[in-house]
Amino acid sequence: MNPFDLDNDVAYQRWRDEKLNNHPATLDELVVEVADLAAPTAAERQAILAAIARANMAVYVSKRPSAVDKKALKAFAAHFGLRRLNHNEGADDEGITALSVVAGDQWRRTYIPYTNRAIHWHTDGYYNTPAEQIHGLMLYCETPAPEGGENALLDHEMAYIHLRDANPDYIRALSQPDAMTIPANEVNDHVQRPDRPGPVFSVDADGNLHMRYTARKRNVVWKDDLATREAALVLGDFLASDGPWIFRATLKTGQGLLCNNVLHDRSGFSDTDEQKRLLYRLRFYDRIAG
Ligand SMILES: [Fe+2]
Repeated sequence: MNPFDLDNDVAYQRWRDEKLNNHPATLDELVVEVADLAAPTAAERQAILAAIARANMAVYVSKRPSAVDKKALKAFAAHFGLRRLNHNEGADDEGITALSVVAGDQWRRTYIPYTNRAIHWHTDGYYNTPAEQIHGLMLYCETPAPEGGENALLDHEMAYIHLRDANPDYIRALSQPDAMTIPANEVNDHVQRPDRPGPVFSVDADGNLHMRYTARKRNVVWKDDLATREAALVLGDFLASDGPWIFRATLKTGQGLLCNNVLHDRSGFSDTDEQKRLLYRLRFYDRIAG
């Protein structure tokens, strides 16, 4: 009885009703205070898992940001079954990536996350291989930007509902194994990463929905069939809308996001000499587990 089975409308409708009934009206409903990130209490953990069950995301707030270090962040993640870190380029040897504006001529300057520019809607690791998809994502804000740096957040299951209600063929199209291809990344004629074809929507072995997406037009080649092209347009319009399911938040010091790699974007920001934005990012192959 998987609701993501296109041939099972009864299961889908039942799941959809429950999802819409439980989905929060505002992000505030998903905020949970945690006294000690390294050792959340049973009640704190339950509150976070309840938020994840409703919207695939929770905003956690450390009551003692001064006590938070990388070890605490990893310990916190492990309490939610997030253990297998993706050691992406840019991560330190612990697998944690510091997101901040990088000066000088380091390679990072060519990657938007390390600039102060806006980042369009995406899920993390959309250019990874199918076997290395990112299912769990955690952010932690050490220092917010003096201005800007807001994230928009959208539960990917809400995007699925929007598309399936509009036309189930959109889901069928976006589930094709070659629906969305990320072209090879070439630097000085040297291929660093080959083409990465893959589906937008997939269902894992446990029946959970996973989404792989980027709105960056330059970074994506859509399969050249009518349903895929239409579906990509409808999805793009939905993300560009100001719909009630799209939440916006600017993380403050001590606040973070724990999620099943939901759709998100980031607005541009500006630093000052006194205050430079610094967020830590942890990407996991695991999905959050209760
Ligand atoms: Fe991201």
